[in-house]
Amino acid sequence: MKFEPSILSFMCHWCGYTSADAAGVFRIIHPPYYKTIRILCTGRVDPFFIFEAFKYGAEGVIIYGCRLGECKYSDGNLQVLLIGESAKTILEESGINENSLKLEWISSTESVKLVKDLNQFFETIKNIGPFGNETNWNEKDKFLYLDCASKVCQDAKIGVLLGNISKKLKNLRDLSYSAIKQKIEEKIVNKLKLKWVEIEEKNL
Ligand code: FES
Repeated sequence: MKFEPSILSFMCHWCGYTSADAAGVFRIIHPPYYKTIRILCTGRVDPFFIFEAFKYGAEGVIIYGCRLGECKYSDGNLQVLLIGESAKTILEESGINENSLKLEWISSTESVKLVKDLNQFFETIKNIGPFGNETNWNEKDKFLYLDCASKVCQDAKIGVLLGNISKKLKNLRDLSYSAIKQKIEEKIVNKLKLKWVEIEEKNL
């Protein structure tokens, strides 16, 4: 049977959502296979939302935020950049393809880019295949692993660490992917792995 993935997108009201709305107004052919949750700023996206989305049937999650330096609430998009990198690390640790999660930066007038990105993401997810395919999970395994991932993300200490990294990078004025990746690896990866094992053991 042909695999048609379900995709959930979180769209910042000020950029992605406005572009998606304009795509409708200008009748740009819009992919029908994704669902949108409008948020006021990507800083509102909790990593917990990401894993819950996967748990309840999304095969791909895409987050649209304002371009870096253009967030209406100062640094919500920087926060989601850190959250996205951490979530990808947890996905990888669980044997899930990290490309199942994508972050995109956009302005409010880029309907064409938005539709192009969504089509590309759809193709990526199609190539990855049904969620859990690479790990041979059954439904029970899927729930267990994603539940663990949600709990790891809700750990207060990890939330504080993300906040501290965000402040440090802002002070250094370095928002490059390499700097973020390096900080996540230095400060968070081991803690995530330990927490993961702890939660997994409790669930056995
Ligand atoms: Fe758009 Fe913060 S207002 S990402």
